[in-house]
Amino acid sequence: MKPLYLTVTDKHIRYSYEDSDDKSTIDKVYNINSAKTLGENLDNFKSKIPSYFDVVVILNPIDVELRDTIVSCVNQPIDMGLTMENLLHIPTVGVHDVARLGLKQAASLEEEHAGWHLEYYGSYSGKRQYGQESMQTIGNGYFGLRGAYLEAKANDDNYPGTYVAGVFDQLTTNINNHDIVNEDLVNMPNAQYMSFSIDDGDVFKLAPDEITNVYRSLDMRTGVLTITMLVSLHNGKRIKVTTKKVADMKNYHNYSLQYTVQPLNFSGQMKIYSEIDGSVTNWNVERYRSFNGKHIIVDKTLVDGDRAILMAHTKNSKVNMSVGSKIQCPDIDDAVLSSNRFQERISQSLEFHVVEGRSYTVEKSVSMYTSLETDGDLEDAVYGHDYHKNFADAVSNSMRCWQKIWRNEDIEVVGDVTAQKLLRMNEFHATVSAQQHVNKDLDASIGARGLHGEAYRGHIFWDELFILPYYTMHFPNLAKYLLMYRYNRLGAAKKYAKANGYKGAMYPWQSGMYGDEQSQLTHLNPITNQWDPDNSRKQRHVSLAIAYNIWNYYNMTNDDEFMKEYGLEMLLNIAKLWISMSEYDPETKRYTIANVMGPDEFHEGYPGADEGGLKNNAYTNIMTSWLFGRLEYLMQKEPDEVISENLKRADFNEDDLDDMESIRKNLKLEFNKDDILGQFEGYFKLKDIDFDYYRRQYGDISRMDRILKSEGDSPDEYQLAKQADSLMALYNLREDTFMDILKDMGYPIKDRTKFIKDNVNYYLQRTTHGSTLSRIVYSMLALKVNDYDLSWKLFYQALTSDYYDIQGGTTAEGIHLGVMGATVNVVTSDFAGVDFRGDEISVDPHFPDQWQTIKFNLTFKGIRYYFTVSKDSITVATDHDTQIVVKGEQVPLTGDEEKTISY
Ligand code: BGC
Repeated sequence: MKPLYLTVTDKHIRYSYEDSDDKSTIDKVYNINSAKTLGENLDNFKSKIPSYFDVVVILNPIDVELRDTIVSCVNQPIDMGLTMENLLHIPTVGVHDVARLGLKQAASLEEEHAGWHLEYYGSYSGKRQYGQESMQTIGNGYFGLRGAYLEAKANDDNYPGTYVAGVFDQLTTNINNHDIVNEDLVNMPNAQYMSFSIDDGDVFKLAPDEITNVYRSLDMRTGVLTITMLVSLHNGKRIKVTTKKVADMKNYHNYSLQYTVQPLNFSGQMKIYSEIDGSVTNWNVERYRSFNGKHIIVDKTLVDGDRAILMAHTKNSKVNMSVGSKIQCPDIDDAVLSSNRFQERISQSLEFHVVEGRSYTVEKSVSMYTSLETDGDLEDAVYGHDYHKNFADAVSNSMRCWQKIWRNEDIEVVGDVTAQKLLRMNEFHATVSAQQHVNKDLDASIGARGLHGEAYRGHIFWDELFILPYYTMHFPNLAKYLLMYRYNRLGAAKKYAKANGYKGAMYPWQSGMYGDEQSQLTHLNPITNQWDPDNSRKQRHVSLAIAYNIWNYYNMTNDDEFMKEYGLEMLLNIAKLWISMSEYDPETKRYTIANVMGPDEFHEGYPGADEGGLKNNAYTNIMTSWLFGRLEYLMQKEPDEVISENLKRADFNEDDLDDMESIRKNLKLEFNKDDILGQFEGYFKLKDIDFDYYRRQYGDISRMDRILKSEGDSPDEYQLAKQADSLMALYNLREDTFMDILKDMGYPIKDRTKFIKDNVNYYLQRTTHGSTLSRIVYSMLALKVNDYDLSWKLFYQALTSDYYDIQGGTTAEGIHLGVMGATVNVVTSDFAGVDFRGDEISVDPHFPDQWQTIKFNLTFKGIRYYFTVSKDSITVATDHDTQIVVKGEQVPLTGDEEKTISY
């Protein structure tokens, strides 16, 4: 092994290692520059050391109880283990573990641990703490339970939100004599609350100055979140509190909590409190707080011994709910239970005698039912709920479920502990947001921010496009249930099209419970604190994303039944929208689609125009042409009766079919003289912008739209973009398909390599990555132009975007599920190069130098594939005979036989 040894003090990092050439011991000191941040110092430190280490050893840990790698640095305790792993991507161990286990075993255990745990050391406040709660959210597709401390009540530092998929409610707020209606994913009654008091003292309230130390560890392998907290109360009493939470992955109505206290320097009486609190409001997002957020109306509170039940409903959507809890402490003999019912809250406590040094555990199990997925009486459902015997039982149940889940969906990366951890985190949150056997019972899809927070009010966007492939690869039926959410709202989409003077189905940019448009007409600019007009609803391409998701699902599963019953009808209705939006210009002999926006939200209209909307957005037109091509193909392929039945249902006639062909080939695109594909018609007339000028003034210019608006200017005036737009179709489609479409549209590309290179460079220079969805698309585009360094850099920024909350506070309001899905997709489809968008799987890796192997499996057209891809070889096994294409060559595969192909 090649270890790097560190001794960290407040002023310097002493480091030693063996020189790789002459094997001599190098011993050096890095002096911490107090004028710089710790992060800047560490980056500087990294630049001074060689890159050949495979483990870091911390020689002077100070807090062995919480972790063997905690040191004092710049006068504060930090976990140098986590810090070094994040910096160098290699396992980091403490000297005590090395003494105990030997270096090799300590390193290998830590490598395993680091890949499965998402951890935070120390207490945080404000948006940082909110963000970490989003990241440590647990759940099962039915509910998401934010990773807040159990003792937390909603305030500026803690937000113990709970969300159930599909439970929305609309409320009206009168602002400046305008009634503004908002639909929120409802923050459900808080049943995760538990806390303690000692003797006659107050109930413990998470005062930061009383928390001497805390470690929060989410074990993604088992689904258990553990918070270990050392508390030193103002009265001198010290206590260790260990809390655990786990969601039931199978019986999805259930989660379990464990609360353990250990008095460290006293004996006496203690009480452990438990609550179900229905007085909660939607309060996670600061800028929404002036809007009405009280969705829950409590109908009834009940107590029966150790059980409590709160019955409630949502104010306007009238979703009924029941939340129940059961508390127990089988190991404490003298515990006395008391219960208090309030109008909106139930509080229970267990009082018992404690002896210094001993541990006492109270367990709480919570159940939640709503009228959306439960027939019959909700009180009975909660009352008759089959709680786990105890917390250990809940954990072993969760472990078993997660084991099965991980066997199916894990992506194993060798050579980078940070990437491994964060990829698993993405997969974990994808599972928290939706699960096959849960969504079967629900009428819900995945919100852009998961079940993890309240940004975008929990709405469902085109972001489905970035995560659905992952679900389809591993749990194809889950993708189907999510698509059914859209099918169930086809009627609303038709109504929306009609109300706008179009035909067919126009899905809303933001969708909630009913599938009507939930985008607001204004958006808060945090720079000016003013609400600016918001045209983002004109992103009609969301309907194309739905069509794309239907096609992808169908291609990956061959689910003819779905296509016949639901898919084709949606595709035809979406096609009808675009036919009705396309206008023929006899002069240019081209069709125009106007009044839309592309994915780049900086461009809402033409400079100075009264009305928003743009003409001939390249992404929209290319994907429309793609959709029409797919439909023409289906018209050939599907049985006559399926076609005629669906044409009838979608009110699609011969003229529509003819129009479709002519529009497909004649939609207008614009190119400049250098063959750059214009983002929309008139794009090249816009001014260029000097980013450096703004960078000097503002530092972070990712939200150039807000900066320009705050200066009385408008992003509409300039050639700049929030995220990939013109080239977005190259993310969705195979390069050949993309080129064929351009050719069919009458814009053949002569030199495709040059075209892609020039276009990627052109747009990269103009893109500020104001959306987390941007970098990951460009990471994949950079591979196309063989810029591996850029691709890697953008990939890592995308991979860490929630972990480091790179947008400076948005993770506080929920994870970004789209980038999580897209990142996983780039690893399997582009780095490992396993592309499932054709008739058969084709493999063409772009393997990162930094990694050794990528291992994962997937289901494609009913066949299970097991891939291990490395720098120079692809190993694949399948459960049936089949074939794949490796770098353009057909490779036959025999079921249950492994084959290794060098490339
Ligand atoms: C992005 C959109 C995305 C939305 C929700 C916006 O910032 O620009 O593309 O759909 O966030 O994630």
